[in-house]
Amino acid sequence: MSWAFEGANTRYLTHDIHRYPAKFIPQVVRRIIEEYSQKGDIVLDPFCGSGTALLEARLVGRNAIGVDLNPVAYYVSKVKANPIEPRRLKRLWSDFSQKLSPLFGFDRVKPYPLPKKALEVLSSWIPKRQLLDMRRLFTLIMEVKDEDFRDFLLVGFSNIQKNCSWWLMKSVKPTRDFNKKVPDVIPTFVRQVEEMIKKNNELWSILRDSKTWVRVFKADARELSSVVTDSVDLIVFSPPYVTSYEYVDVHKLSVIWLEQVDDLRPIKQKFIGSLSARPKNVAIKSSLAMEIIRELSNKDGRLAKAVKTYFEDMQLSFKEMDKVLKDDGIISIVIGNTKLKKVDVKNAEVFAEIFVNMGYKLERVIKRPIPSKNLPTVRDPKTGKFTSVSSSHVKVYPHEFILFLRKV
Ligand SMILES: C[S@@+](CC[C@H](N)C(=O)[O-])C[C@H]1O[C@@H](n2cnc3c(N)ncnc32)[C@H](O)[C@@H]1O
Repeated sequence: MSWAFEGANTRYLTHDIHRYPAKFIPQVVRRIIEEYSQKGDIVLDPFCGSGTALLEARLVGRNAIGVDLNPVAYYVSKVKANPIEPRRLKRLWSDFSQKLSPLFGFDRVKPYPLPKKALEVLSSWIPKRQLLDMRRLFTLIMEVKDEDFRDFLLVGFSNIQKNCSWWLMKSVKPTRDFNKKVPDVIPTFVRQVEEMIKKNNELWSILRDSKTWVRVFKADARELSSVVTDSVDLIVFSPPYVTSYEYVDVHKLSVIWLEQVDDLRPIKQKFIGSLSARPKNVAIKSSLAMEIIRELSNKDGRLAKAVKTYFEDMQLSFKEMDKVLKDDGIISIVIGNTKLKKVDVKNAEVFAEIFVNMGYKLERVIKRPIPSKNLPTVRDPKTGKFTSVSSSHVKVYPHEFILFLRKV
């Protein structure tokens, strides 16, 4: 059976309650979990992002632990995989949503007091009227006593940040579009939460008799063993990539609200793959990594340093994974290779080499085609240039790897 899962629905249940870049295909991670763990086992995703693996683990009767540094990832994963009992949710939402009406004094709610600089940044992204409503809404959310419900609302609040600001919707990088007609906050929020409630209820009815659990930690994967105290049966993840997404920038507005900070730089530095990450001076256990860094340093010193830091950081996280994985357990990595300045950055090979040098056995490698929603990319067989489908024969599908490494 193919691992492509072409045309698969990736948005079922709570999978799409919040946008998140570079998500797992749920069907891919479900198959990994089913093939490499048993019911009742503990699955860990140390870079859990939006929590795709955690929800899939529960759906097939496993327990799961998720770790991610991004506060957005923390809330989304927690809410996505832990549905609230529908009657309780209905009651809580009915009480809460009343307060959003001017009749119930919404206009007199105190705007949330954020640090001055944070407010300045938000003001440069969000029109005045919308920002005032958001600050009032945030005050009401932070007053909610029921933690599960508060987190549920925070996810809804976070997901409307891009809609209700000048954020250019089709861009993951922070880009403003001052021609955008910015919608009102309250109706957008209400629609978002009502959509989430439907999905929550659907999931709850599936999991109602399940004894499984999901725990999520906002923590650094390089310090995994300080939060993960169980030993786990399977680790599955797709890593951050070097120079790809700056996760703090992607969720800039949400991070300002959720962390209530006015300087994002110290947070950004901790993200693996960020250009702000600091070198560690760790000996990388991969000769291929050293070769890639050497080749890159002839072309771009700064980029070479970033790639070196990236491999160092990933290796530090691998050491931590090793501490929490049971003997004979499996680490599965879903990963693509990248090209920087025409140098092939063979992440999959480098990661496999590091793990093998740590004593792991590379048990299986799957090359997975990534089905494109657009026309297949094609190369002209004579010129080698990308061209239209009709004039060529050689199809070039992008692909990624799935590695299976056993702790021996
Ligand atoms: C490719 S994404 C994972 C997406 C996830 N598989 C999903 O389905 O949504 C990589 C994740 O690594 C996280 N990350 C980056 N540096 C980290 C660190 N030092 N510790 C923990 N997580 C980190 C990012 O916040 C991001 O969510």
